[in-house]
Order: sequence, then structure tokens, then C-alpha cells
Amino acid sequence: MIQFKQVSKVYNDEVQALRGINLHVKEGEMAILIGPSGCGKTTLLRLVNQLETMTSGEIILHKENIKQIDKIKVRRQIGYVIQSNGLFPNMTIEKNVMIVPDLLGWDREKQKKRFHYLMELIGMNPDEYRRRYPHELSGGQQQRIGVARALAADPPIMLMDEPFGALDPIIRLRLQEEFLQIQREVRKTVLFVSHDMDEAVKMGDKIVLMRNGEMMQADTPAKILLHPKNHFVEEFVGEDRILKSLKLYTLRDLVKEVNLCSITDINDKPSINLDASLHHVFSMLLHQGYQQLAVVEQDKLLGMVDISVIEQFIRLEQQKLL
Ligand SMILES: Nc1ncnc2c1ncn2[C@@H]1O[C@H](COP(=O)(O)OP(=O)(O)O)[C@@H](O)[C@H]1O
Ligand SMILES: [Mg+2]
Repeated sequence: MIQFKQVSKVYNDEVQALRGINLHVKEGEMAILIGPSGCGKTTLLRLVNQLETMTSGEIILHKENIKQIDKIKVRRQIGYVIQSNGLFPNMTIEKNVMIVPDLLGWDREKQKKRFHYLMELIGMNPDEYRRRYPHELSGGQQQRIGVARALAADPPIMLMDEPFGALDPIIRLRLQEEFLQIQREVRKTVLFVSHDMDEAVKMGDKIVLMRNGEMMQADTPAKILLHPKNHFVEEFVGEDRILKSLKLYTLRDLVKEVNLCSITDINDKPSINLDASLHHVFSMLLHQGYQQLAVVEQDKLLGMVDISVIEQFIRLEQQKLL
């Protein structure tokens, strides 16, 4: 659990980087910080692991005020991943990953086991990479090692500052998927900085949109997309926000709320499974020029979906979220 109460930061008596931030990130929750460059995202993370001191306000980690905890103890509760991965070039991959456990005095056997577990978790062969050096790895692999290193001593909190920002789009998509999977297994409390709305919608339990040191809106992705609080949020999320929101729902969600169209002659219409995202369904309807698709679950035909059914569902969701 991380709680910010009226947190402000002024650099050198002149740059107001954060203005009265109030935010509560629950245990096991992933909050995505997003906003234009210079809005204070990195500063907020650096306050949590005490690389900077706040000018006023309070930060609470698991009921303890960080001012009252020893800096070193705070950092042990936190895994930190940055865009430029920060691996030590002259240390092997195993040494890099095990830096914190090593500092904590873990014995050789425990370290070996942990290294093995972490490498499997990030999808890299432990024996193949153990003795390699960072420069012998691709950018995507180096970022994975950065994630493994942050997880090494099993800290309850992860701070991730645009961890996949420097990677090409395809590798970035893959690492997002992988990290979501890892998160399902390890359930950390995560503060994740991004500048990419698609990444935020995909990864976040909660999205925190910032501007100029202030929090503009902190809500679930659905709420941010379907009910932007003000003009700035609306502009930032983009005019395709309704379309983006379709990624958050599947046909399974839809059939719980609205009726499908009745079954017609389906000879020429492709069928689609209940687990398909509404974004996928919508794309099929548009790009392939079908009026309707047949919705099936385990070979059973449930009904037909068309654009108006999707529209009806999104309207309902919008009303529910009011
Ligand atoms: N060490 C520093 N000294 C002075 N000003 C800083 C320092 N770090 C950041 N700033 C300023 O604080 C503001 C917020 O920066 P930052 O937290 O890095 O934003 P973001 O990560 O959202 O791009 C910016 O105006 C930046 O120039
Ligand atoms: Mg930054």
C-alpha cells in the first residue's frame, strides 16, 4: 500500500514539480502515472524511494510514514526499474540480478535458487545467461533483467519509470504482456510511469493522469476513457477514447448486459468466440464489411452481434460509471 497525502516538491526554491498530490495505491494494485513530459512523474517515484526529499506532505508505506523509516530499509521494500535499465556493465547477469540479496547476506544456495526462479519468470534460460554481460544482451533482454533484479529480494512495492519506453513497439508489447503475467503471479503494489495511453489502458488497474505537478484524474481505465473529468483529460486520452475502451471488454461482458440480435441465416457470416474483445469484434465488423457476426460458445450459437449492439452496451457502461 502506498499513500500520498498533500505531497509537494519544489526544486531549488523555484521549480514546483508536484503540487498537493493525494493518491492511494492499494496492495496488489498497479497504478499507471501518465502525463506530458515534465509533469512530475519521475519526481513522484523518486520521493517514494527517497532519492529526493519532499517539500511538504506525507508518504505512507504499509502504515509507516517514510520519514520515520530508515532510508536503507525503505529501499529494501522497493524494486526500482528505470528506462535505461541501470545494469552494471562489468558485472555478469547473475551478479546484476542478485545485487540486493547479496547485500542482504543471502547464502549461495538460496541465491542460486532465486536466480533460477527469476530467470524462468522473465522467460530467459538461467544457465545460458548466468555468466554473460549486459552488453551481450538485446535491449529487450536487458529490460527483462532489470525487472528480475528489481524483484530479486521480493519487495512488496515496485516503482517502474517507463521501463519499456526505449524499446521498439513489438518488443514493448511483448514485455507488457509478460509483465502482466508476472504481476498475476507476484501481486506487487506497482507505480508504473508511462507516456503511452495504450500502455496505460492495457496495464493499469488505475490510471493517474498528471499535468504540471497536479493530478488531473485518478480512476480506472474505463472511467478515464468513458468519463474524462475535464477538457485536458479528454484531449490527452484522444478522440478515439470510446474505441480504446472497447479493449477493456469482451463479448462475455456484453451478453450479461444486453441482448444479442436474433439468429438469422448465418451461412455467410463468420463466427466469433465469447472471449473476443469488443475491439476485435468491432474491427472485424468494420474491416471485413459484415453487418453481423455469429457469437458462439463451445459450438453453441448464442445470437448475432452488430455495431448497434456494441453501441448499446457502451452506453450502458457509461451510465453505470456515472
Ligand atoms: N533534480 C532536479 N532539479 C531541478 N529541477 C528538476 C529536477 N528534476 C526534475 N526537475 C523539474 O521538475 C519538473 C518535473 O520533472 P520530472 O519529475 O522529471 O517529470 P516527468 O518525469 O513527468 O517528465 C520538471 O520541470 C523538471 O525540469
Ligand atoms: Mg520522467
